[in-house]
Amino acid sequence: MKHKLIYTSVVAASLLAMSCKEEKTSEPVVAESAKVETTYKGKPVTHEFDAKIDSLMAQMTLEEKVGMLHGSTMFATAAVERLGVPELTMADGPLGVREEISKDNWSAAGWDNDFATYYPAGGGVAATWNPELSYVFGNSVGEEAIARDKDVLLSPAINIIRTPLGGRTYEYFTEDPFLNKKMTVPFIVGLQENDVAACVKHYAANNQETNRDFVDVQIDERTLREIYLPAFKAAVEEAHAYSFMGAYNKFRGDYLCENDYMLNKVLRDEWGFEGIVISDWAAVHDTKKALENGTDIEMGTPKPFNEFYFADALIEAVKSGKVAEAQVDKSVRRIMQVMYTLKSIDDKGRATGSINTEAHFEDAYKIASESVVLLKNEAKMLPIKTEGLKSIAVIGNNATKKNALGGFGAGVKTKREVTPLEGLKNRLPEGIEINYAEGYLERYSKNENDQKQEVTLKGPITVDELDPAKLEEALTAAKNSDMAIIFAGSNRDYETEASDRRNLNLPFGQEELIKKVMEVNPNTIVVMIAGAPFDIKNVSESTKALVWSWFNGSEGGNALADVLLGNINPSGKLPWTMPVALKDSPAHATNSFPGDDVVKYEEGILVGYRWFDTKNVAPLYPFGYGLSYTDFSISGVKTNAEAYTENETISVEVAVNNTGVIDGKEVVQVYVSKPESKVVRAAQELKGFAKVDVKAGASQTVTVQIPVKELAFYNVETKSWEVEKGTYQIRVGNSSRNIVAEQTITVN
Ligand code: BGC
Repeated sequence: MKHKLIYTSVVAASLLAMSCKEEKTSEPVVAESAKVETTYKGKPVTHEFDAKIDSLMAQMTLEEKVGMLHGSTMFATAAVERLGVPELTMADGPLGVREEISKDNWSAAGWDNDFATYYPAGGGVAATWNPELSYVFGNSVGEEAIARDKDVLLSPAINIIRTPLGGRTYEYFTEDPFLNKKMTVPFIVGLQENDVAACVKHYAANNQETNRDFVDVQIDERTLREIYLPAFKAAVEEAHAYSFMGAYNKFRGDYLCENDYMLNKVLRDEWGFEGIVISDWAAVHDTKKALENGTDIEMGTPKPFNEFYFADALIEAVKSGKVAEAQVDKSVRRIMQVMYTLKSIDDKGRATGSINTEAHFEDAYKIASESVVLLKNEAKMLPIKTEGLKSIAVIGNNATKKNALGGFGAGVKTKREVTPLEGLKNRLPEGIEINYAEGYLERYSKNENDQKQEVTLKGPITVDELDPAKLEEALTAAKNSDMAIIFAGSNRDYETEASDRRNLNLPFGQEELIKKVMEVNPNTIVVMIAGAPFDIKNVSESTKALVWSWFNGSEGGNALADVLLGNINPSGKLPWTMPVALKDSPAHATNSFPGDDVVKYEEGILVGYRWFDTKNVAPLYPFGYGLSYTDFSISGVKTNAEAYTENETISVEVAVNNTGVIDGKEVVQVYVSKPESKVVRAAQELKGFAKVDVKAGASQTVTVQIPVKELAFYNVETKSWEVEKGTYQIRVGNSSRNIVAEQTITVN
């Protein structure tokens, strides 16, 4: 990974050490007491070549210009070769650079040189609570994208997790707008440093897969601004993302790719977006409306490319005077500005990248190793004590299941995906016998009656009876081993794009399997591999140790084994709330999911932990939660002042003490609440966090910086952000439900 990070504030020595192999453009300052606060800034679209673009456009025919506005293959627009304007090439996506797709249909192109690194999925990335790792990811995958000659990577995917059932929860980051933007911005900055454009998706309010092609999402304006848009806004204002993907669904009556309010008014006029809007695949429904309302490029699924709305129909519309040619020119100009920014027109000095390298696998490992969340660890069951250990039963289909590909939607063709079982084999000391048993079978049914709940949802129906022979094999393995690890959860066939799950049940009879294995060997731990919440209440009560891992990339199995064995001290924190039951989650408690033709977000701003904390609903595991093998105490919380004005920054200083005997990383989380507000407020909102590496027995001072402007609410009457005067409580802890210190400040 090369490194051109621009540090504008102080950076922790530990983070610095992590990235020391890279060259930096400016030297960060390290204060005596290590502070963790890094600002990532992208570079805007260049205007250096505007005159050249005008001259090129003057030479182009209408047909040539229109060719640049729609897919002429599955993942590229047409070139204008005679003028040296290349195709704009694209690839998915969030898990790494997708294998090459055929030019005119969805089947794989069958190349033998399109193997790529499989990176951890969004949930895992967010669970690191480490923006530096999001930068590492962006930069690393950017090198892979440019090595494959891609101009645009269809990533990051940053929709807010509104319901735990969401089919794409695993792909997205979080339920919280602040964590979302803090992970989004560095990813884009890192990616675009490789002369590859991010395509930030799916803009916007695409929070369910059910009816995603037409559902009309109704969100009140304040909620839209405070919850669903902040990361998209930061992607423009801070990261300078060069492209956005218009979502499939409607918003307040208009499709997102035809939505004047969202594309022209908010994205372009308000935020100053200068990049290009690319439609999701087949998300355009009207030539004139889509182009005039802000979409630049129509991409889609196989039908003759000239039949796209932005193809022959657009040429016709211009010729008949229905659409002004100036509209076409506007989009062509934007596309060429992005092309020049990416050095793709005149490719002198363009990054060259590399793909499928050890360095990139190492990047994937780093992210995975900080993403694993330790949910429960009674009697210090973990890390596994290998001394004297003779045998381990490894049980569950998920011990060997691969997730780089699967389900509907983009994956990665990779040469390396270390499974949990392989990870254990790689990492366990020699001489410890592994007794593997599949335990449960991944089986699906076509019979709707097999799954009684939530029939309006279309997610896969699982067969939940255990296979007697498989169960027997698992019990025998467990009985004959010193300890057992059950790998349960889901996979990418079960959690998938284009449908939402029907319920939160553990699939394939896992709950029964876990119960029975525990009966024969109480020395059993459970590892969940999944990208979204599940109903794990019973499992959580019955097991002494519970670990959460994700669809975690090429090195996922090694990272997980390192955590289980104590080579890595877990430091992941949940990026969303794990509810006790589905009905506790806001969209379900308000009975406003999945809607029908229309879905109204009745819970308003109370998404995720905002709902649980405000309504006093106890979660099973709260947002921000995750244990460590060591113990931390957070103390000495103080702010640099008692009163602030709107343009100042609140510095919250905290001492993090590692009171245990091994080194570890803790995430200091700062929530803010506003008592006596003139508007409805959530009980508290995350406004700052910092991950720190603290040596055993040592203490570190961390400063979390919160610009007072972060405390603003969106005032719908004045249509602007407003920082209310008065008192605020600064609440510091290591999860939304473990606040250890509070301090009151005033804003004047
Ligand atoms: C997905 C996008 C993806 C596109 C191209 C769509 O179905 O919603 O996320 O980038 O397909 O594969």
